[in-house]
Amino acid sequence: MAKNIYIGEISKNKEIQEDCFLMKVKVAASFETPLPGQFVMIRIAGLNDPFLSRPISIYSFSRRNNFCLIELLYRVVGKGTQIMAGLIEGSQVEINGPLGNGFEIDSVGKNVVFIAGGIGIAPMSLLIENLSRRFPSSLMTLYFGAQRETAVVGLDKPQKLCHDVNVCTDDGSLGEKNLVTQAFQKDMKKFLPANTSIYACGPRGMLLSLAKILNKGTFNCQVSLEERMACGTGACMGCAVAVKDKKNTLAYQRVCADGPVFNLRDIIWE
Ligand SMILES: Cc1cc2nc3c(=O)[nH]c(=O)nc-3n(C[C@H](O)[C@H](O)[C@H](O)COP(=O)(O)OP(=O)(O)OC[C@H]3O[C@@H](n4cnc5c(N)ncnc54)[C@H](O)[C@@H]3O)c2cc1C
Ligand code: FES
Repeated sequence: MAKNIYIGEISKNKEIQEDCFLMKVKVAASFETPLPGQFVMIRIAGLNDPFLSRPISIYSFSRRNNFCLIELLYRVVGKGTQIMAGLIEGSQVEINGPLGNGFEIDSVGKNVVFIAGGIGIAPMSLLIENLSRRFPSSLMTLYFGAQRETAVVGLDKPQKLCHDVNVCTDDGSLGEKNLVTQAFQKDMKKFLPANTSIYACGPRGMLLSLAKILNKGTFNCQVSLEERMACGTGACMGCAVAVKDKKNTLAYQRVCADGPVFNLRDIIWE
């Protein structure tokens, strides 16, 4: 097996919310401890179809006596995730990871603001867990948005660890009837750019709207992109996004290998 590729055994795969599953996978103890924001490429072990490998963020990670337990929180949207949803306890999956750069934590300021849309809560949850070891909950605020109440998932840990959790739904069936970016914008004056780090993950439209809101300010904001991927390991350029490089010129970077986390300010959206 190539480096970073593990055969994992599913110990749980349960629908916890409409079309949303929590999968627990046991892998060898040699699995590297992931950084928040890193992901795995997962596929059914032994399946010959190379196109059925899917990127899923690491939602939770723990070390046991002689194995590691990886938790994945995923929404069924198409063929690959449908196949994942059908896997039963004891099935084997091929796990390639941890992959990607993950969020940078050193630059964190005094307040930490998390903005998550839908299943974008998955990498945020691991980040919140990690940062809760360094920051008191009073400094951590989460803005979470989903289409409706039945699409709200992954809030168990954030609700324990963040002092302030703001939930929005598009239809008002849970929390405030608002877009998550607008809920954040309303509160923005509570946070001083020099003292605040913002982390976000969610659909492209949400991140674009956040980019517009933060455009004129000086907030430091890291975002995790969920671009579609083919190889997941930097070989095909299938996930390239346009960014401003260090010389402020246009460059293309791979979400899988150079990301998935980017500085919001560097992304060129057109
Ligand atoms: C770094 C990274 C981390 C991710 N983490 C998670 C996670 O923790 N949980 C989770 O549920 N999903 C996550 N995703 C998205 C997930 O990879 C896709 O939903 C999945 O690959 C879809 O595969 P599919 O075969 O089921 O759907 P497909 O048949 O490939 O597509 C079905 C539909 O979903 C849309 N779609 C597919 N992939 C994406 C995507 N990446 N972004 C937006 N729309 C897409 C397609 O346009 C299509 O309409 C992540 C993606 C990336 C790049
Ligand atoms: S998916 Fe192939 S380079 Fe990123």
